[in-house]
Amino acid sequence: MTHMHVALPPLGWNSWNTFGSNISDELIRETARIMKEKGYLEAGYKYIVIDDCWSLRERDENGKLVPDPQKFPHGMKALADYVHSLGFKFGMYSCAGVMTCAGYPSSYDHEYEDARQFAEWGVDFLKYDFCYFPENADNRHRYATMSMALKASGRDILLSACNWGSGEPWKWMKSVGAGMYRSTGDIFDNFRSFSSIFKSQMENFCMSGPGCFNDIDMLTVGMYGKGNVGLGAKCTDEDYRTQFAMWCMFSAPLMLGGDVRNMNEFCEKLVLNKDLLRINQDEECRPPYISYRGRVICSGFEENGETVGWREFPDCGLVMIKHMSDNEFAMAYFNLADHPATVTGTFADMGIPYKSGVGLDLKDVFTGESLGVKRDYYNAEVPGHGCKVYLAKMKHV
Ligand code: GLA
Repeated sequence: MTHMHVALPPLGWNSWNTFGSNISDELIRETARIMKEKGYLEAGYKYIVIDDCWSLRERDENGKLVPDPQKFPHGMKALADYVHSLGFKFGMYSCAGVMTCAGYPSSYDHEYEDARQFAEWGVDFLKYDFCYFPENADNRHRYATMSMALKASGRDILLSACNWGSGEPWKWMKSVGAGMYRSTGDIFDNFRSFSSIFKSQMENFCMSGPGCFNDIDMLTVGMYGKGNVGLGAKCTDEDYRTQFAMWCMFSAPLMLGGDVRNMNEFCEKLVLNKDLLRINQDEECRPPYISYRGRVICSGFEENGETVGWREFPDCGLVMIKHMSDNEFAMAYFNLADHPATVTGTFADMGIPYKSGVGLDLKDVFTGESLGVKRDYYNAEVPGHGCKVYLAKMKHV
């Protein structure tokens, strides 16, 4: 049998975070054109995915799903052909229950017909959600059914399961044949939302690997509070740096959720950063491990015009290491407090004590700056909500 799934974390764009139900043929074509022009495709972002709200509210008299003719006047096949002609893969959305989350018809009890329909349209990726799931149906069984239906469709279609962690999918979604599985509830464009999503999966770092990746939701980079999942409290540049670095360190699928037609330069450079993408796409797909999780100490607090010294923020310091191929490491230092702090990475906690005779040659992935060979430890000055990420090579000294 041929290998059906991409081994590396899938990269692409999804319509939901910014556009919600406000989607159209034109939007998808324009997004694809821009993503090609600006180098996203070349960087690896190859899936263009239409999320919920693409169909009419009812199936047709033959039980088929019908693309909304107002939103998609040329039909899905023509759109898929266009997306393919630029070199992208084409993704769509359905749901394991009787309706999608936004109340459109979905695939419970229609798995084989719908899979065949998706294959006919030229779909390469199916996000498969979990709303309106019958009480008497079985979670695992219905994801397995759609997985088999996709395989029987004759087209190689990646199953992107999305049951929000229900029934601990990290333990079984891979055996069902999914290429990725959503492990959490929905992301919103603020620091609290994405950092708690990330923290909630720290126990499951090891349950994600080649062929089936833990999906911690589409990115919000570039949204700045605007769009469907932007709710007042919005992310800053520093927050986006941290969000993207977390997703990369975790080898999470990187599905952009911002409006790539209007990304500012900061966000565009961030999501196209070659070193970060290399960390995410390292062929060994090793999960990161945590070498430090604990307090950070922020200093220089002022009260009534006087400096009152330092304050401690529990559980806001996080140092993560990802072993990569060719004896390279990625090291990420996070400061989740909202004031600047010094975060310490202790090499002994990475298995490299002084007596090993080995030091780490560090490169800052955001500035490209080379920091030289360090021993014992490296301290990073990290802004509030921020991070520093280094690529490190072992050097005998
Ligand atoms: C659920 C999913 C989201 C999105 C919406 C669409 O909430 O978790 O990612 O697909 O449905 O309605």
